[in-house]
Amino acid sequence: SRPLIALGIETSCDDTCAAVVTSDRRILSEVLRTQHHLHEPMGGIVPKLAHHAHMRNLPDVVKEAIQQAGLGERGIQEVDIIAVTRGPGLAHCLGVGLNAAKTLAAALNKPLIGVHHMEAHALTARLTTVDPNLVSEGQDGDSATTMTTSKGYVPAGSAPHPEFPFLTLLVSGGHTLLLVAHSVDRYTTLATTVDDSIGEAFDKCARQLDIPWLPGRAGGPGASLEEFAKSSQNPSRYLDQLPIPMSLRTNKRLMKFSFAGLKSAVTRIVDQEKASSPTGGMDEEKRRDLAAGFQHCAVTHLCQKVEQGLVDCHEQGMHISSLVISGGVGRNATLRSRMDEICSEFEYKDSSKSNRKASSKTKNTPQSVPTVALRTRRSVRVICPPPKLCTDNAVMIAWTGLERYQQGLVDPYDIDIVPKWPL
Ligand code: KG4
Ligand code: ZN
Repeated sequence: SRPLIALGIETSCDDTCAAVVTSDRRILSEVLRTQHHLHEPMGGIVPKLAHHAHMRNLPDVVKEAIQQAGLGERGIQEVDIIAVTRGPGLAHCLGVGLNAAKTLAAALNKPLIGVHHMEAHALTARLTTVDPNLVSEGQDGDSATTMTTSKGYVPAGSAPHPEFPFLTLLVSGGHTLLLVAHSVDRYTTLATTVDDSIGEAFDKCARQLDIPWLPGRAGGPGASLEEFAKSSQNPSRYLDQLPIPMSLRTNKRLMKFSFAGLKSAVTRIVDQEKASSPTGGMDEEKRRDLAAGFQHCAVTHLCQKVEQGLVDCHEQGMHISSLVISGGVGRNATLRSRMDEICSEFEYKDSSKSNRKASSKTKNTPQSVPTVALRTRRSVRVICPPPKLCTDNAVMIAWTGLERYQQGLVDPYDIDIVPKWPL
């Protein structure tokens, strides 16, 4: 039987997106109309502007997605399912996409699948795990059983898709979320932020430090901060004044993210430095050191909670196969390499313990060497989907529609939006 074809529509926030994706993992088309230029001058997303822009743009975006997909003479009739974001998101914006999808599906007599935006972010890694920018770095010939290359990226061709259960760390301007994906439709949230998102923290910190915008560099202020911090001469200069959130002894196991305190600490240091400087400014060397210190603390915070998450899952008898890092902040190289360390170290401690046990046992009872246990032990892989698929897009909605459809999860034509929708 031929692969299934899905049309996906996403309008939950400020981008109008449509895409056509197949069940054998081909992206036939992908159209995204950004509204950045509308909201940027307003200093944030204005729901009413976003709503009107979606209404104006969606018909064209869907039309383009269908045309670019090259579906042949029958055009949209070739599509097997229609998938659409149902929530969470801005109510009016969700409504535009959902109504379009419902009408299309009903008129064409196709199955309709309403998708949870966060489930879609989590499942994207099962569509593709290859980061085209990093493929060459990943091709170091690691054995197929370990699958973690030195950088943690999976080389093209052998791309394994994360098997359930896996962890997803979703870090962007809108989300700061660590969750376990148990199966399609079944997730547990391990940690979310109690205040700012991590992307907001990077952005505000970049603004505080007057970090120059780098034209032509994707990733916004967060990426500029990362670049700026690279040439810090003394990255630990301010570390004794910067807290690692939620890390006090009593908070160690507390599964929550928080960035407000770290952000205030940065503000405090900037104010102090400016007040004590004869020019009323903060020199570049110090600003670079503070940027590096902030990044270190923010990343350490994430690392501590991911590590705790791995321990908690392990204690509950779950065998986590992979850690999927997604979202704009997931582009951060420091974050990626520190996560890589944690995932390999976590495995290392684990297997060395049983190695030691095994060798002490070997002396007395050689027949009890647990070779099977050692052989079945796998490392936790770090998987980073391509940056383009980490931000909001319709490809992930179409793919999730396919995953749900294959599990028999179809919705009636009269479903409603769910603007606030826990996973
Ligand atoms: O997922 P995303 O592109 O979009 C939304 O959340 O809407 O995430 C954008 C966020 C911004 O806060 C940006 O500053 C941050 O991701 N970001 C980074 C890096 N690249 C983008 N933060 C830290 N390091 C980076 N390399
Ligand atoms: Zn999103």
